Amino acid sequence: MEQASAAASARLLRADADGLAAAVAALDAGRLIGLPTETVYGLAGDAFATDTVAAIFAAKARPADNPLIVHLADEEELPRVTEQVTPLARSLAAAHWPGPLTLVVTAAASVPAITRAGLSSVAVRVPDHPVATAGLQRCRSPLAAPSANRSGRPSPTTARDVLGEFGSELALVLDGGPCVVGVESTVVDARGSRPVVLREGGVTREQLGVSGEEAAGELQRSPGTRYRHYAPGCRVRIAPAGQVDVEVARAVTAGVHFGAVVHRDHADHLPPTATVIDTFTDAPDLARRLYTGFREAERAGVELLLVEAVAEEGVGRAVMDRLRRAAGVA
Ligand code: TXA
Ligand code: MG
Repeated sequence: MEQASAAASARLLRADADGLAAAVAALDAGRLIGLPTETVYGLAGDAFATDTVAAIFAAKARPADNPLIVHLADEEELPRVTEQVTPLARSLAAAHWPGPLTLVVTAAASVPAITRAGLSSVAVRVPDHPVATAGLQRCRSPLAAPSANRSGRPSPTTARDVLGEFGSELALVLDGGPCVVGVESTVVDARGSRPVVLREGGVTREQLGVSGEEAAGELQRSPGTRYRHYAPGCRVRIAPAGQVDVEVARAVTAGVHFGAVVHRDHADHLPPTATVIDTFTDAPDLARRLYTGFREAERAGVELLLVEAVAEEGVGRAVMDRLRRAAGVA
């Protein structure tokens, strides 16, 4: 065990000049690394190398029909993945890149079919993280980088959590600190004249000017949102905001070993039998802490994790989307 963790920590590299050089060498050699972004850590590899992309799918045990996001250093690199940039894509990129927005655009033939799961479109984003940017600027190709978790598991938001998911399978993990957004990017189809949100995420509908009512009418979803997702190794239950005590009483009566992630003001109301996994102040704070809370609940060995709901507005939409999927009620 100690040997294993010593080996694991040897692959955790500080994102200094040496760490970056090692990362770029590994990526250019077709290997996989853990890469920090502002949203979550990515499992990054050369997006144009079919063997490397196949290795990403294999490491994650990801269904072959779930396409990957291609990451670019900046907007000027868009012609590497598409020949058709709509006015909508242009304006969304100008407003939100670098940042937690992924645009689905018509793919150029240069993007291997495996990367886009055989679709005619490709998902692309410019992350807002100095380590990701430095890596992307220096390596040969754009990087395919799904979240660095096994399929169905919570995304990792620290370098150590990436090692916890993948141990020895990666060349290395660059440590860029904890992710500041904490949930994944918003995926938007930008091929038409108005944005169609395919996955809620770090850029809010309010920022995009897309209302929730329009959302209710949209049947289109990203392929990845078909699967049960983001789930830790314990059951998750959503406690309606301000009614944590009702769910707590239920868990106490059932004799379940449970943990709780609640608003800071409600932590004092929990009985001593409850394990407080974490507390939050608002929806952006919960977004940052959600996945680490899931992992902490696993470490604490609770059977059930109660998470207090936040309002369905701003990044709260993405938080509630992930919570419902983790709870199996999406
Ligand atoms: O924040 C993020 O987006 C992170 C970081 C690492 O950049 N990456 C990430 O990748 O969340 P992944 O693979 O875990 O999720 C990608 C999502 C999936 O739901 C996938 O189905 C969708 O994007 N997607 C990819 N290509 C698509 C396409 N051509 N059309 C529609 N959806 C697509
Ligand atoms: Mg993912």
